[in-house]
Amino acid sequence: MPQIRLLVSAGPTREHFDPVRFISNPSSGRMGYAIATAALRAGMSVSLVSGPVAIDAPAGLAELLPVTSAAEMLEAIDSRFDACDVLVMSAAVSDYRPVRRMEHKVKKDALSLSVEMEPTVDILRHVAARKRPGQYVVGFAAETQDVEAYAIGKMRAKNCDMMVANRVGLPGSGFESRDNSVVLLWPDGGREESGTAGKDEIAAMIVERIVRRMGRA
Ligand code: CTP
Repeated sequence: MPQIRLLVSAGPTREHFDPVRFISNPSSGRMGYAIATAALRAGMSVSLVSGPVAIDAPAGLAELLPVTSAAEMLEAIDSRFDACDVLVMSAAVSDYRPVRRMEHKVKKDALSLSVEMEPTVDILRHVAARKRPGQYVVGFAAETQDVEAYAIGKMRAKNCDMMVANRVGLPGSGFESRDNSVVLLWPDGGREESGTAGKDEIAAMIVERIVRRMGRA
């Protein structure tokens, strides 16, 4: 059986409004890196597109592509999507970016500072709209309330084959933490809870379910 080619995004993006300041989020990248590692263990060819993180990439990647902004991540994912079998979009992509990026550092003698923002392109929605038969797309949904209802809505809206939903904003789960607790959701109504576990364990579970659902197990 041919090797499965997995494209995974991880980490936050940074949206600069001047050379030294940016809007971002506290994503550590651990979940995406753990998925890359689990996929390598499962024998896949793995390309990792990563926002700025403080962790080491696993050995054996087909490609490691560091990016900073949502626009760079869009370009990296968009240009690689057609050549992958599975996309796992675990990056915490900024939803907004400053309309302007100042050439020089903004000085603090201004009495107040407001930064005008505009939406970024939804990368997952953009590429999954052209998904071909046999391609498998996995999204993440970070929610603080009504986790499953919002995640199911996003799965449909973004043409995903599987959604990994997690509650963020609580201590001990989500963004920065080592452990996580997710619910896996499928368009056929399938649902599975991970229980609280290490991100490595959850990543292995996600990769195993992808392989099984693709009919490649
Ligand atoms: N995503 C993306 N591009 C964006 C924003 C999000 O590809 N500009 C992807 C994320 O990587 C994730 C999924 O979309 O796989 C859901 O992201 P999330 O932040 O939970 O949802 P949003 O669609 O941004 O909705 P909201 O912020 O309103 O909850």
